[in-house]
Amino acid sequence: MTIAIDVHLDADAAARMARDVRAGLCDYPKELAPKYFYDDRGSRLFEQITELPEYYPTRAEREILEQRSGEILDAAGCPSTLTELGSGSAAKTRHLLSAMRDRNSLHTYVPVDISEEITHRTAAELVDEYPGLNVHGLVCDFEQYLERIPHGTDRRMIAFLGGTIGNLYPRPRQDFLERIAALLGPSDHLLLGTDLIKDRARLEAAYDDSAGITAEFNKNVLAVLNEEFDADFDLDAFEHVARYDAEAERMDIRLRSLADQEVRLEGLDLDVPFAAGEEMRTEISTKFSRERLESVYAGAGLELRGWFTDADGDYALSLAGVA
Ligand code: AVJ
Repeated sequence: MTIAIDVHLDADAAARMARDVRAGLCDYPKELAPKYFYDDRGSRLFEQITELPEYYPTRAEREILEQRSGEILDAAGCPSTLTELGSGSAAKTRHLLSAMRDRNSLHTYVPVDISEEITHRTAAELVDEYPGLNVHGLVCDFEQYLERIPHGTDRRMIAFLGGTIGNLYPRPRQDFLERIAALLGPSDHLLLGTDLIKDRARLEAAYDDSAGITAEFNKNVLAVLNEEFDADFDLDAFEHVARYDAEAERMDIRLRSLADQEVRLEGLDLDVPFAAGEEMRTEISTKFSRERLESVYAGAGLELRGWFTDADGDYALSLAGVA
């Protein structure tokens, strides 16, 4: 049993964010990347979202993992290494680890997460809970460091859960899946969580809850910019907008300016005008069908090898291998 945690300090992260935010605010229409939601407050608000009655994806994914982890592992050829992108507290991952242990195949867990504190804590808990487990963690932005992820033993499964792939536009999504495909050997698998297409009312309710938590989460990105760039966004001068774009098959999440206003970002030496009613996109959340996912996989040199949904058919975990 061993624990090793590699930390890849990202010296360029602040400069990248500054460039990214400036470009997004100077673009028309304006846009900010969803990764900037997640400061401490944003992460706490997202945790609250996962418990909302309207927000079904987290519960649906948990149901699949609780009930079908054994099936998933058998379909994946009983991997001995589980790598998880965005592992966090690994709450749902334990169902996979337990099924691996029950099959006597559990050897190595490779959590990859941006938070050093959580990764250390999770690693320590898991070696206690799973005697003999090796944990080789990586603290980094996995989009930047995908190619540096340790390989572990043969027969790997790389899990990317939560539906986060839905945040990516088609081109970056294909690039990302191609990079994952390049990491997979012939008997390795990707386990990917995706939310599924369903009626507009349920989708829009999931992203515009009656308690207003998602609205707060969305506006928090403005607080992040205030903090990071000494800016003066007035959170009350914007409202939360969540619409399903049926054509593009994705939720389109925006902040709408309630007045003509000018915002100052001291740290970027930038003044940004907003017109009354102007909308700035802060997130897309793509919804999939099995057919669409198959073609997305094909575009990245992958093929669908397993399809696992919850009983209501709201959410899917799929297994993919190199085509
Ligand atoms: C964390 C990207 C999966 O798209 O459902 C939830 C983020 N945004 N409510 C999602 C989110 C608003 C979530 N992901």
